[in-house]
Amino acid sequence: MSTGSGSSTRTWLKRRVGRALEGSLEQLMERERAESKARHDDLIAWLTKFERRQRRDVYTAMERSAADDSATFAVEAFGDVQPSFHPHDTLRHAMEQSPSTGLSLEFGVATGRTLAIMAETRGRRKVFGFDSFDGCQSTGAGVLK
Ligand SMILES: C[S@@+](CC[C@H](N)C(=O)[O-])C[C@H]1O[C@@H](n2cnc3c(N)ncnc32)[C@H](O)[C@@H]1O
Repeated sequence: MSTGSGSSTRTWLKRRVGRALEGSLEQLMERERAESKARHDDLIAWLTKFERRQRRDVYTAMERSAADDSATFAVEAFGDVQPSFHPHDTLRHAMEQSPSTGLSLEFGVATGRTLAIMAETRGRRKVFGFDSFDGCQSTGAGVLK
């Protein structure tokens, strides 16, 4: 180590630190390159499989065809219906469509999340929730009680 002026100490220190950093930076970059190549290879393998399945797989073609049929049916039967992408939106919509008079009852409240949504849509009117907290019990004849 040079013990000369402050400036030469700084230069020496910079060189030492620079060399040490260079080494670990090189290792880090090498690891990143290897990981990146592995991810790239996995992605290409997945895409190749996906592309083949789209072109050749009979079950995929059947699923696509069934989805097409369902889409055609949905447009014909419910073309003017607003889709909901979450069950809670379906519940809100159903509550808005249902009569605002009479009782609002939920059977099977569990945590109360859906009951709370019902209550929101009913404003100051009461909603009633029921739950056995005991799961469904079968009568033995395929009927749930
Ligand atoms: C899947 S959770 C539904 C929770 C909530 N309504 C929702 O949509 O998120 C069904 C609930 O129904 C209750 N349950 C099942 N069978 C019942 C019965 N025979 N009488 C009362 N509650 C029942 C269960 O305890 C459970 O909490």
